[in-house]
Amino acid sequence: MKQALWSGRFENGMDDSTLAFTCSLDTDSRMAFYDVMGSIAHVRMLKARGIIPADDADRIEAGLKEILTSVEDGTFQFDRSREDVHTCIEFALTENIGPAGGKLHTARSRNDQVATDFRMYLRDAALHAAEAANGLMMALVRIAEDNGDTVMPGFTHMQHAQPVTLAQHMLAHAFKFSRDADRFLDAFRRMDKCPLGSAALAGTTFPIDRGMTSEALGFREPTENSMDSVSDRDFATELAYCCAQTQIHLSSLCEELVLWSSQEFSFIEMDDRYTTGSSIMPQKKNPDIAELVRGKTGQVIGSLTAMLVMTKGLPLTYNRDLQEDKAPVMDAMDIVISSAGMMAKVVSTTTFHKDRMMSVTAAGQINATDLADYLVTKDIPFREAHGIVGAAVRKSIDTGVNLEDMTLEQLREFSPLIEEDVYQYIPVMRCVERRNSYGGTSPASTDAQIARAVEQMMLRDETIRQEKQLIQNCWKTLLE
Ligand code: ARG
Repeated sequence: MKQALWSGRFENGMDDSTLAFTCSLDTDSRMAFYDVMGSIAHVRMLKARGIIPADDADRIEAGLKEILTSVEDGTFQFDRSREDVHTCIEFALTENIGPAGGKLHTARSRNDQVATDFRMYLRDAALHAAEAANGLMMALVRIAEDNGDTVMPGFTHMQHAQPVTLAQHMLAHAFKFSRDADRFLDAFRRMDKCPLGSAALAGTTFPIDRGMTSEALGFREPTENSMDSVSDRDFATELAYCCAQTQIHLSSLCEELVLWSSQEFSFIEMDDRYTTGSSIMPQKKNPDIAELVRGKTGQVIGSLTAMLVMTKGLPLTYNRDLQEDKAPVMDAMDIVISSAGMMAKVVSTTTFHKDRMMSVTAAGQINATDLADYLVTKDIPFREAHGIVGAAVRKSIDTGVNLEDMTLEQLREFSPLIEEDVYQYIPVMRCVERRNSYGGTSPASTDAQIARAVEQMMLRDETIRQEKQLIQNCWKTLLE
């Protein structure tokens, strides 16, 4: 007869299939470090409050530190018959130090333990993700710094719309990642509360000090309500959303880089180190990293969907469904952190073919809006100007002569109000320079945007550094 994991209530142990099906070690063993930290904080509190004898507490703490060493050097045996990381560690402790180990679980439950471990794990992951998004933003801003006067076509509906600069285009992506990085930090702040001490669901009869454990683990404060604390995973869902949104932004950047590296666009060439070859076609240089990042987006969005559906309709409080929260969110965090990291490398090593960008911009009628704006300065209503320029565009397409290459005589066929000064308005570089509205594509505007972007990145770097430091200090204190 198999021995039961929880002696007393059960006469028989679990069937092997039950154990295999319910065991969460494949994912939650990644939280072993946090589990030990949570336990050290808990046992120090039990000791301080006189809930367990001091010598038992000391023995437990020493035993936990030994376990941590074996986890870190890879020798700790995660025994699959023990369901999850919490039980593995607690049972190993008792095996190592004797029955006193059994006192560790006083005034706590795996329900508050897992909620605490997962928050600690995701807190670090959120800081890494914010850092990765910030790093990618930095790489994009660097390109913008060098390309305030690199003219390229701006697209709507994938059609040439108006001339922009490469700086403006790169900054457009950069500010998306700025918001993504902020979102991770916002989510970090909201989940920065400690559920430990909520116990199974209702709190505990022991005179615990939740403020003490919360502080020891680097949380801002304890969570407010024990039932809320063990029943919700909104912090994990929120991070899954942050991941999905970031990965969607990454995917959009990647889509463009894939297009831009095609022979048809020839806007860029990616560095050999970040591209792959073909097993059959020797001429090929494939943008696989960008494609993989784009492809992984499905999985990340899937993680968010998994979290939303998993938690929908759960009654209070803890239900085992909640064990399924870790794999999708850990996975989403891994994907986003590695994708943003890879894309920062891809972007910062890519060669931009500025001449090609310029020549495709100048070929065509991308400056049509500027000709219409010019007519407005001659007091023609914009709607009417739109029609006049439409006719000029038709002519340009039919004759193959760009608007700015038409003679004054040719242009005046469309409106007698057109004068020599039109050539101050329609060359593409002038179109760019004149779009000097706040946030526009002019070099003066992109310089100002770069300054703002750099300020945002630096502030955020400092916040991330401080939060990491605070957490590191806690680990140091707990391991003293
Ligand atoms: N492995 C469980 C989880 O990840 C830990 C909590 C178990 N609690 C319980 N009542 N069975 O959710």
